[in-house]
Amino acid sequence: MEIIIKEDYDQICEEAVTIIHQTWKKKNDLVLGLPTGRTPLGVYNRLIELNQNQEIDFSRVVAFSLDEYLGLNKDHPQSFAYYMEKNFYRHINIKKENIFRLEGTPKDVDRHCQEYEEKIKSQGGLDVLILGIGRNGHIGFNEPSSSLSSRTRVKTLAEETVEVNSRFFENKDEVPRFCLTMGIGTIMESKMIILLASGEDKSEAVQKSMEGPVTASVPASILQLHPQAKIIIDQKAASRLIRRDYYQWVYRNKERVSDFLERKKTISD
Ligand code: F6R
Repeated sequence: MEIIIKEDYDQICEEAVTIIHQTWKKKNDLVLGLPTGRTPLGVYNRLIELNQNQEIDFSRVVAFSLDEYLGLNKDHPQSFAYYMEKNFYRHINIKKENIFRLEGTPKDVDRHCQEYEEKIKSQGGLDVLILGIGRNGHIGFNEPSSSLSSRTRVKTLAEETVEVNSRFFENKDEVPRFCLTMGIGTIMESKMIILLASGEDKSEAVQKSMEGPVTASVPASILQLHPQAKIIIDQKAASRLIRRDYYQWVYRNKERVSDFLERKKTISD
């Protein structure tokens, strides 16, 4: 797990986009897992810009949605399908057949979830999964107490998540109570995970997830076990981290480590 602390929201988005761009340069048929919410918007905007400047080409890229409200169809303005289309897909040259979504109104929910898992596998698995984090430490809609080995399935949203998300609806009663989400087991199989967090309201969840015990009570804490998890956060989200100075020290020395290893290799060659 690598904790990267940047000054502000713009810088965390910039960092995430740089990583995605570099990964795409090595694998043009990148398989992405993508969330909705406030946090990833800056990343989507920058990727759109790169695509329009022809610096990144999405024609071979495949994208999977991380989650969806159960009961909302894809044309509902609060559905995650609608969000992804409006904020990202319609602005880039991704092929329709390369976009995979969890349906909000599937005929057979269990079967749909099973097939979603199979589709991810048939694409060779996720290369990069972007995540936000809930104030209660949720990732995707895996709320506290979700099994750490769960697969894509139906979940009941926590009351606090309903509360937080009610800002997008007329009132709290309109917020769906159920959702479909990639499971924590599914998330952990992504080759790389980029978790983004910005703002003071995320600082407690960030601290518990990154420095506390690995526990189902804080689902994001599982990322401590992922070999390629990059936690990209701004100063406010990092404000409660106990070892904040150490993470910044490691990051500042990152290039020196590669130089050092490169020099050592040359000498021994
Ligand atoms: C959204 C999702 C959620 C959000 C999280 C943070 O698809 O899976 O886990 O990432 O609730 O939301 P924001 O970014 O709005 O603070």
